[in-house]
Amino acid sequence: MLEIKKYTEFFVANWKMNGSINFIDNFLSKLVLNDINLENTCNIICPPSPYIQYVSKRLEGFYIGGQDCSIFEDGAYTGDVSASMLTDMNCNFCIVGHSERRKNFYETNEDVLNKASNCLQHGINPIICIGETLEQKKKNLTKEILSKQILESIPKNSNDNNSIIAYEPVWAIGTGLTPKLEEISEIHHFIKNEISGFKKFKVIYGGSVKSSNSRDILKLENVDGILIGGASLDVEDLNNILLCQ
Ligand code: PGA
Repeated sequence: MLEIKKYTEFFVANWKMNGSINFIDNFLSKLVLNDINLENTCNIICPPSPYIQYVSKRLEGFYIGGQDCSIFEDGAYTGDVSASMLTDMNCNFCIVGHSERRKNFYETNEDVLNKASNCLQHGINPIICIGETLEQKKKNLTKEILSKQILESIPKNSNDNNSIIAYEPVWAIGTGLTPKLEEISEIHHFIKNEISGFKKFKVIYGGSVKSSNSRDILKLENVDGILIGGASLDVEDLNNILLCQ
C-alpha cells in the first residue's frame, strides 16, 4: 500500500466511461510528464476497468486507479470488479463513492464503506468521495451532509496514510460551475478541523477543474490535490494542469 503522507499533492484523472484503444494510444503519445516534482507529487489515472492493464503497461510516472470496486470479495456478482482484481492489475488506488455511483446506482454510505474496506484489505488506497447536492447546499445542509458521509463511509481502519478524501460538490461535477475559492477552502478546513479524527487526512477537490482554474484551487490552504473528470480527457488540458505543479 502506498504511503499517502509522503506526497504533498495529488492529481487524479477520472476518465469515467470514456475512451477506446485509439483514444488511449493518442492520449499517451501526447501526455507530458513534469518530472520535477515527481517525488512529492502523486499522479493517478483511473481508466475504465477493461483498459486498466493496457494503460498501466504503457504509462510511466503515473499510478493507476480503479473507478469503483465491488462491495463483495468474489462470487456470483455478474459485472462487478473486486478490489483484489484491481490489485492484480497493478492498481494502487480506487475511487469509491463517486456521486455518479451514489446517484445512478443507489450506493449508500454503507456500500461506500464496504468498498473502501475491501480496498484497504487488498492493499489499495481508497479515494473516498463526498459532496452535497445543490438542493442540500441551498438548504444550508452542506456541512451536515458531509459529516454524515464522512462518518458513515470512511472505514475505522482508514487513516491519513492509507486513504484520501475527495470533496466533490455534486452540482459542480461536469457543469462548469465551481464553488468560490473561499468556499472550497472553508469546506476543506471544516473536514480537517471540525470533524474529529480527520485532521491530517489529505483532502482533494473535484468538480469542473480545468487548466484555467486548477492553479488557484491548488494554491488554497487545506487543498491537497485535485480530481479531474472531463478535462482529464483532453490531453492538452491535462498537460497544462500537470505543468502547474
Ligand atoms: P468534472 O468531474 O471534472 O468533469 O466535473 C469530476 C469528477 O466527477 O470526478
